[in-house]
Amino acid sequence: MKFYVLTLFPEMVLDGLKHSIIKRACDEGKISIEAINIRDFSKNKHNHIDDYPYGGGAGMVMQAQPIYDAYMSIKDKLSPNCPVIYMTPQGKTFKQEKAKSLAKLEDMVILCGHYEGVDERVIEEIVTDEISIGDFVLTGGELAAMTIIDAVSRLIPGVLNKEASFEDESFSDNLLEYPQYTRPYEFLGRKVPDVLLSGHHKNIEKWRKEQSILRTKLKRPDLLEK
Ligand code: ADE
Repeated sequence: MKFYVLTLFPEMVLDGLKHSIIKRACDEGKISIEAINIRDFSKNKHNHIDDYPYGGGAGMVMQAQPIYDAYMSIKDKLSPNCPVIYMTPQGKTFKQEKAKSLAKLEDMVILCGHYEGVDERVIEEIVTDEISIGDFVLTGGELAAMTIIDAVSRLIPGVLNKEASFEDESFSDNLLEYPQYTRPYEFLGRKVPDVLLSGHHKNIEKWRKEQSILRTKLKRPDLLEK
């Protein structure tokens, strides 16, 4: 899986993803992350990539041309179905289902906006998907892009140690994950539930399923309605 990120802050994206599982996935060639600096495509003598909004109003708007040229600089490398995802609070809320479908692709381009927005014409021209990571406003799309890259990468075969580790996890079946315990058996007077020490796999499975349902009811009843 190749991720191409169009951004004004390439280090933010690359530095944030060079740790732990994602770093290992990059080192092993299971994924690659390329950050393209939109500013490198400025034609302005001061390297500006933004300008005042037509019609007035607060803030600046990212210009179409540097973003378009940044995209065109990688276009030849992209697969025919490569989506161009614009990170914006106006997009569809990102869900595990979307992560699963993106994980099947060969590559994706992620466009990170800043300031008050991006000239609509470049969105119309190159963007295929708009994704939000939640109903709140970030200062830029980078953290959102990193969220997508992390959530998608861990679904790519071989990125996590065990394939099984995401079969059971939260949101598969629209249920939250059951509680987990490790040693010691007792911590601050709290003991591990007996069933987990019983060695009785059927009972353990049943208990975990019940816990998943209970937790979902308690913490995310909206998921059960689905
Ligand atoms: N850019 C700013 N806020 C965002 C959000 N909530 N999701 C995705 N991109 C964003």
